[in-house]
Amino acid sequence: MAIDRVDAYLDSRREAFEGQLKDLLRIPSVSAQPDHDADTRRAAGFLVDDLRAMGFPIVELVETAGHPIVYAESLEAPGRPTVLLYGHYDVQPAEPLEPWNSPPFEPTVVGGNLIARGATDDKGQMFTHLKAAEGWLKAGGGLPVNVKFLIEGEEEVGGANLEAFVKANRAKLACDYAVISDTSQFAPGIPAITYGLKGLAYFELAVTAARSDLHSGMFGGTVANPLNALASILASLKDLDNRVAIEGFYDPVRPLEAWERAEFARLPFSEAEFREQTGAPSLEGEAGYTTLERRWARPTCDVNGIFGGYQGPGPKTVLPCKAGAKLSFRLVPDQDPKQVAAQFRAHVAKVTPPGVVVEVVEHHGAPAVLVGVDSPGVRAASRAIEAGFGKPPVFMREGGSIPVVGLLKENLGVDTLLLGWGQNDDNLHGPNEKFSLADFHRGIKSMAHLLAELAKEDGGTR
Ligand code: BES
Ligand code: MN
Ligand code: MN
Repeated sequence: MAIDRVDAYLDSRREAFEGQLKDLLRIPSVSAQPDHDADTRRAAGFLVDDLRAMGFPIVELVETAGHPIVYAESLEAPGRPTVLLYGHYDVQPAEPLEPWNSPPFEPTVVGGNLIARGATDDKGQMFTHLKAAEGWLKAGGGLPVNVKFLIEGEEEVGGANLEAFVKANRAKLACDYAVISDTSQFAPGIPAITYGLKGLAYFELAVTAARSDLHSGMFGGTVANPLNALASILASLKDLDNRVAIEGFYDPVRPLEAWERAEFARLPFSEAEFREQTGAPSLEGEAGYTTLERRWARPTCDVNGIFGGYQGPGPKTVLPCKAGAKLSFRLVPDQDPKQVAAQFRAHVAKVTPPGVVVEVVEHHGAPAVLVGVDSPGVRAASRAIEAGFGKPPVFMREGGSIPVVGLLKENLGVDTLLLGWGQNDDNLHGPNEKFSLADFHRGIKSMAHLLAELAKEDGGTR
């Protein structure tokens, strides 16, 4: 059978695939840092070359106003479904560098894990899609379905260029299934299909008062202090039950369904181990919900950064003239990032103390995602994961956001299959990011089987 030849090919190429992934990880494609623009383009070029080498008939480096998009297609399976495979080749900045045990762009294997910036988010996971396609092209007699690759370089900066590309190319990107590997398994040995992601609404606050910094003895008690004002604004965002205290915020929130609460409760989750993993003295969050419910299905509000005033050594008696903060809301269905922005603005206006001016800056947001768990695609994915990992997947949600999922739903009408091969302790966005090499190969195998399983869903085999 073709799938057996593909599996044998994938087995025989394990070392070569690891070597190629390491080469990709050596390219510091940090989309946020202009210093790395040439590197970011080089990563796109690496993928273009690899897709051409494996025999994709159409491979394009699509220029955008920012980092390029890699697009490839093989439509050589007429009558079969079309599968769109999305990934991102850009990575988060590696800084701060001190906590890294090895240089972030020199991939190092420790205890079966590949350590490098981008190992799991998303180069290692995205690369499983390429290698699965390669298996079919090199050993399976061709792809069993039609395949379109869409790989962007601005996911980590929330760029608007992919959105423009998708909107302008609906027909080109049309597909029956979309697949993304950019999430995690539930735990080691417990692969998962993710059916929900949180959305995101991100803001900056800029608070100003006096024209310049003042002596805090001469002027303290006479004009407002922007840092004090900022602190009171931020403190007003949550109540003592850790609920967001913004009017109307919870109105569109879809309650957890009974089956979900039961499924979450059945998962082998240890609060103590989770707390231990974070190093925090206790687990905290919205009253009335379990830790998994809060992580996956309840909206949150977090201050991401706060700045202002004197930061140097020793005391400086100063009344600062400005202060700022960055903060984000993680959203759940059916909250709308635009509506949250309006609610947030109204709240800030209401709670801002007199004597300061507050500016609210909105960053690009993303809607939350909830996809059906009972569909031909999900059933095919379950069988594929069982083939790759030796175990059927559990169903879970995630707290992270992947903006393209909403974009694909809105523009192409498809629900995305979120098949993640990472682990919760992979340190994505942090130091010593890692990806299990065993999971890398299981992911490749699962993806190769997925293509065959999706072909079956529409009847017939190659
Ligand atoms: N791969 C992550 C999203 C993710 C993380 C999903 C963990 C599931 C578990 C993605 O690359 C990411 O970092 N997304 C950003 C949002 C983006 C708009 C910057 C996020 O979630 O913060
Ligand atoms: Mn990612
Ligand atoms: Mn990320």
